[in-house]
Amino acid sequence: MTDRARCVDGSGIRRAFQLGATLEDPINLSIGQPDFEVPEPLRRAAIEAIEQGRNGYTLTGGADDLRAAISAHLQVDPGWRVDGDNLELLVTSGTSGGLLLAMLVLCESGCEAIIPDPYFVVYPALGPMTGATMVTCDTYPDFRMTADRVEPLITDRTKVVLVNSPANPTGVVLRDDELRDLADLCESRGVMLIADEIYDLFTYRDGLGASGTCPSPARYTENMLLVRGFGKTYGCTGWRMGYAAGPSWLIAEMAKFQQYSFVCAPSISQAGLVGAFDVDMSGVVDAFERRRDLLREAFAEVADVSDCCGAFYGFVKVPEHLGMTATRFCEEAIKHNVVVIPGNVFSDRDTHLRISFACPDEKLEAGLSILADMMRPACV
Ligand SMILES: Cc1ncc(COP(=O)(O)O)c(C=O)c1O
Repeated sequence: MTDRARCVDGSGIRRAFQLGATLEDPINLSIGQPDFEVPEPLRRAAIEAIEQGRNGYTLTGGADDLRAAISAHLQVDPGWRVDGDNLELLVTSGTSGGLLLAMLVLCESGCEAIIPDPYFVVYPALGPMTGATMVTCDTYPDFRMTADRVEPLITDRTKVVLVNSPANPTGVVLRDDELRDLADLCESRGVMLIADEIYDLFTYRDGLGASGTCPSPARYTENMLLVRGFGKTYGCTGWRMGYAAGPSWLIAEMAKFQQYSFVCAPSISQAGLVGAFDVDMSGVVDAFERRRDLLREAFAEVADVSDCCGAFYGFVKVPEHLGMTATRFCEEAIKHNVVVIPGNVFSDRDTHLRISFACPDEKLEAGLSILADMMRPACV
């Protein structure tokens, strides 16, 4: 086995899943995927694609009809014209696929990439997989990966800054000005900014930018890589679909690696998602915003909650008077039939819980009430 394999630690997520595995009907607030059905037109399109024989490989860059739909969307948000000369796009096998390809192109042994702490669990693993050193940017206590926090971490070896907004696990959405400053910093230091915007549609009213959509550094520069996904947006995480857009040279190199690894994104999923941007998801987003409000209300009196203006998560601090780590709190929560993930799965620290509200309202309300009660003085 290689050092590369040895260095990737899969135990955190495994531990989190094992926590709830013994319960029969747990209140599961640990899930990172939507609980709504894939919109009917998309399901139908995928089924028809199978029946019509779209079962073979597509072009590495993606099927023409889906590429055209993504191009049209990018023209509106963030306002990029994907002309193939300056800007290009690549349909990828999930957002994770896009991130891995980008890192394989941009980083190698001796390079550094800056990621936030707390982070999405895949980010640190991109280090051993590519040879790069992942440098964490401590964003506690407000979880904002600002230019001021990133700047002191940039060295001659830094090749990439990876920002995630709306963020997993905190739900924090960076503002337009914060993302513009980060884009300016990366540009001035010759570092590639990668924006993981997989949760872009799940930006609630208090997180929206001046454009009325999710704030993005892509509004201020085209010299960056935008990575987005379909899985969370349309409830089809298993379809393994995402896309990356950015400088043509970078996309060409990523496409080369895709050709010799994933080959192409799944053909049926691609066909299913051609009409995705025409589906109105506002009802779902509104429902998630109401759940987010429930989470805020539940902890208003008892614990600090991240400013979760997006994604499906709140990052909730275990009150100090309890004198316990987040891991210990999660073990206690299991005894009350509630599953949440401890912060140390996403961070060097073990002080917070990731609470997902991608869960039916009734269960969510029951779970939140149990957790809040556990946090009141003298209750655990
Ligand atoms: C921030 C973030 N980026 C990327 C991904 C991976 O997405 P995909 O399923 O499209 O590979 C996830 C999944 O949870 C995520 O939370």
